Amino acid sequence: MEGCWREYFKVGMCEGEKVVDGETMPVVLQPAAEEENKSDMKTLVTAVKKNREWLEEMIEKKSAVLLRGFQVNNAEDFNEIIETFGWEDIRYVGPAPRTHVYKKVWTANEGPLSQFVYFHHEMVLMKEYPKKVILFCEVAPPEGGETSFVPSFRVTERMVEEFPEEVEGMEKKALSYSFTALSKNDTSSMRGRGWEDAFATSDPKIAEIRARALGMELEWLSNGGVKTIIGPRPLTKVFEGRKGRRMWFNTVVGMYGKEHSSATMADGSEIAEKVVTRCEEIIEEESIQFKWQKGDVLFFDNLALLHGRRPSLPPRRVLVATCK
Ligand SMILES: [Fe+2]
Repeated sequence: MEGCWREYFKVGMCEGEKVVDGETMPVVLQPAAEEENKSDMKTLVTAVKKNREWLEEMIEKKSAVLLRGFQVNNAEDFNEIIETFGWEDIRYVGPAPRTHVYKKVWTANEGPLSQFVYFHHEMVLMKEYPKKVILFCEVAPPEGGETSFVPSFRVTERMVEEFPEEVEGMEKKALSYSFTALSKNDTSSMRGRGWEDAFATSDPKIAEIRARALGMELEWLSNGGVKTIIGPRPLTKVFEGRKGRRMWFNTVVGMYGKEHSSATMADGSEIAEKVVTRCEEIIEEESIQFKWQKGDVLFFDNLALLHGRRPSLPPRRVLVATCK
């Protein structure tokens, strides 16, 4: 096995990469040689087929793997890569407005490019969340629009260092979240996904059944919208095969004290504001700025990384697949 990957890939570098705990993030894999026939889709698909296990191992070990310099041109090409891995996809549940593009491929958040999509583990509050988030850049933004990401264990480490008691308290009590959504999609907001789209029904009764299956309760609002209550949920999680690292597997900073959302302890008591404010700074400090080039395919270990999108100038088109 060892050595075979070198027939197809060479390790490169990219702007913004960072060494964390001895590992470079992301790992950049480029075509082994300059000639055009070393970077075409046919070669890439063969390379993936032959190195499937090795690539999966790399994603788990290194958290972020980038394929750069291959001729991946559109959603069909991107889908073919996902299919070659044989990964099952997982249906997106969450606040972002998204559109289906092709087979396993969806648009990423369609909210305004001028806004920051805050750092999160994909579907962190759901009972089942994807292990992998795979992104493909069809149109690279002229300025901004980085998909920044954060090694989650570093956030936990630093929070434990600065707030040992508070972290223990949140861990013990667990957390609860609320989130309000309108009935129909509103693409003028990054959190504008309506409940009818989210639960794939216009029937409130069916929405309630589907919500409960996902571990959420619904409270109907007079404007036709809904308040979703989610909890209890843990503060951190440790996953198999991730070096025993304790991941900051929550969305307290993203949802705390916002107009349409809240985060509290599961018993209803408040989380201290200074803890949330400092946590936001730590997440920012630990973030790695990833700048897109057209044709990039980026694999994230969703169990190990938070990701977000910086404000961007148009045009920018990044597609996504979320897989088990
Ligand atoms: Fe995301």
